[in-house]
Amino acid sequence: MTTSDLNIVASNETSACVLAHGVESGLREEVKNAPAARSSRISGFAQMSVKARLTALVERGFLSRDAAGALFSAENLSQDLADTFIENCIGAFALPLGVATNFLIDGREYLIPMAVEESSVVAAASHGAKLARSRGGFFTSPTKSIATSQIQFTVQSEDAARVPGWFESVRAELIDRANACHPRLLSRGGGTVGVEIRILPKPGVFVIHVHVDTREAMGANIVNTIAEDIGRWLPSSIPCRVGLKILTNLTVHRITRVRCEVDSKTLEIGGFTGAEAVDRIVEAWEFAELDPYRAATHNKGIMNGIDPVVIATGNDWRAVEAGAHAFAAMSGQYKPLTRWIKGEEGQLVGEIAVPVAVGTVGGVTRLHPAVQSTLSLLGHPEAGVLSGLIASVGLAQNLSALRALACEGIQRGHMALHEKNIEMLRRYDHMPSLTAVARGTDSAKEP
Ligand code: MEV
Repeated sequence: MTTSDLNIVASNETSACVLAHGVESGLREEVKNAPAARSSRISGFAQMSVKARLTALVERGFLSRDAAGALFSAENLSQDLADTFIENCIGAFALPLGVATNFLIDGREYLIPMAVEESSVVAAASHGAKLARSRGGFFTSPTKSIATSQIQFTVQSEDAARVPGWFESVRAELIDRANACHPRLLSRGGGTVGVEIRILPKPGVFVIHVHVDTREAMGANIVNTIAEDIGRWLPSSIPCRVGLKILTNLTVHRITRVRCEVDSKTLEIGGFTGAEAVDRIVEAWEFAELDPYRAATHNKGIMNGIDPVVIATGNDWRAVEAGAHAFAAMSGQYKPLTRWIKGEEGQLVGEIAVPVAVGTVGGVTRLHPAVQSTLSLLGHPEAGVLSGLIASVGLAQNLSALRALACEGIQRGHMALHEKNIEMLRRYDHMPSLTAVARGTDSAKEP
């Protein structure tokens, strides 16, 4: 859909005077100036056509008309652009982009972009967010964007005892060296915030960690440059063999924490009272706490919420996945990333703690037109805020899944949505597959 298509939508499906409000100005302005009362609860959103949904977002000041047009356009990633992103490019691979509604995070209304192929994920996130609104939505703890590089090195076993003393003597020099790699980062208020040494469980093997505040960047390139610089210098300071010089995706100084509460009455479902539902959800969480087999599925459900937002905002979801699962296993047993307990007033209380290493600059964020629109939809958050939004979706997703699983099972709701996909398959079943056409064996031609 182009901007002019959206005009047609405007005249056909909404009142033109509402659309005219603010859509010509830049979206940043629009979002900042949006009326405080704008709500992420949009009645009938799920039943609207795709065009009508986009129009609803424009009407409410969540998206500019141009940003909405860019999202709808089938070619929002041109071949030229795709070809600059990766090697051997042969096209672009599209995913559905949905919007999760009902999110109230730190007192602000959010519509959350989610790029995902699995049915019921967006609906579940919206449902979890609606439940959490009963007690003010989600509350995040701010995190800095601290990325960490690792420099592995090995010394002769007779030198191992002197490594900790040597490290203290070069601590300040290491910080200066790291900062000298990125002077502009310092001027933006970022830079190296600490260095540490870890002794690995093999004689003579050590690793230096350099922790860097990377501000708006996810930080992989920043800390990898630092790691390589320190790796080159290291043998001149202590006799050693330098090994790998690379970031760690286990970003323990970037843990994002979010909390929400749900009134027990809101959780009433099927034959269960709200109080019973709270007990059953807590029990379902305990299952994951006790059993890594269940924890894996529990956390997969959380990543159902996290990954689609990471993807939609142009971030590296493999890095976030690796960090989340490594963090879940840090105690020595793989654990759930959330915790659910019964509060003093009988309410359900949930928390998530998960590393979410994302940025709002770098990578494809500034280049991908759809990412520009999704960041607009979120009001161009800073990286720390974005990580809180993403973790909130993980918590909402988990709440929705646990309530369904503990109280009614998920197949009824899941299958209703899945049925839409099956219906599509039936509709397109008679069409020859591209492979068959290419081979000249398409079944439509066969008797
Ligand atoms: C399905 O994609 C995710 C769930 O299995 C998560 C869970 O079991 O908590 C429903």
